Amino acid sequence: MTLRVLGIETSCDETAAAIVTDKREILSNVVLSQLEEHRVYGGVVPEIAARAHLEHIDKIIHAALSDAQLSFTEIDAVAATCGPGLIGGVMIGMMSAKAIAASQGIPFLGINHLEGHALTPRLAEGLEFPYLLLLVSGGHTQILVAEDVGRYKRWGTTLDDAAGECFDKSAKLMGLPYPGGPNVERFAQKCSAPEAAIERFPLPSPMKGRKNCDFSFSGLKTAVRNHVQPLPAGDLDPKDIADLCFAFQKKTAEILADRCKNAITQFLDEYGAQTKSPTLVVCGGVSANQAIRAQLNKLTQKYGMHISAPPLSLCGDNGAMIAWAGLERLQRGQNDPMDFRARPRWPLDANAAPRHGAGVKA
Ligand code: KG4
Ligand code: ZN
Repeated sequence: MTLRVLGIETSCDETAAAIVTDKREILSNVVLSQLEEHRVYGGVVPEIAARAHLEHIDKIIHAALSDAQLSFTEIDAVAATCGPGLIGGVMIGMMSAKAIAASQGIPFLGINHLEGHALTPRLAEGLEFPYLLLLVSGGHTQILVAEDVGRYKRWGTTLDDAAGECFDKSAKLMGLPYPGGPNVERFAQKCSAPEAAIERFPLPSPMKGRKNCDFSFSGLKTAVRNHVQPLPAGDLDPKDIADLCFAFQKKTAEILADRCKNAITQFLDEYGAQTKSPTLVVCGGVSANQAIRAQLNKLTQKYGMHISAPPLSLCGDNGAMIAWAGLERLQRGQNDPMDFRARPRWPLDANAAPRHGAGVKA
């Protein structure tokens, strides 16, 4: 018998629903981005996001069912992101999932959005535990060990901005539209003289050389601001943008690699003996960035470690990762009660020591 789980994701600015099976098949994966609604504000506006989720959620769930050529009666369980994220949106996805579960008499699973990202390589390629995880998104930048479903050790986190947030804020300083990440990558590809760009726009390397796995990005963002200020007022010259984007993207990749280097050494030391093929997983929206993937690829090769990054369709927020996390939990005999609460803050490792300044990003 095939198990089929419907997954719903509404924690940020994507309204998404998908159906996956225990054979690791993605029967449908519908993602509606609200980019246009938020673009004029230069970032996600929580209330606008919540209203858009409310308007579209039914349609998106039905689209996921119809793409998979299934009806509600053929679904075995329903999973929804219940945090962390923007609470208005989270509530809409969670309540929709509970309503479906109640009306169909099937299990409901409340999923941690970060666990959705973290388990994606198990859906995409059947990766086995344990593995090292670099989670880089708009809201989080963390290094964790995934020991099992629901069992994570957080080794490092950002002390200020998340990497994706730094991409978005730096892009905004350069006059590029939201979301910054893909636009910075696009402009960086247009840079015709990389060496000169790096020399022209020197940037700091926060935390470099420190023995831990923590990150800091706010200094990088400030340095971008300082480089933009002396440039001629008005729209920046496309060549200036390309050069600065290149320098910024390269520096971000180096920072991520420097922090991952410490984590890799520690992982090989502590888990090397119990893993046939030690792997670094890079996940979250920023993992779509090719320059970052290339830098981390080089690093892992040096240490004889594999690297796994989800296919681009599973990097950003999507329902398939939530359905899969639900499926993994269901297979372990778990489900959640109807009074399960939405959690705006929900760390993957509840035992990790709080980091000063990290707030909800820890
Ligand atoms: O995981 P995600 O879709 O949503 C969160 O849970 O945050 O990540 C969104 C973040 C945004 O900050 C976006 O700018 C960044 O991922 N991003 C990228 C790229 N594509 C998306 N950053 C750098 N390069 C990209 N190609
Ligand atoms: Zn995400």
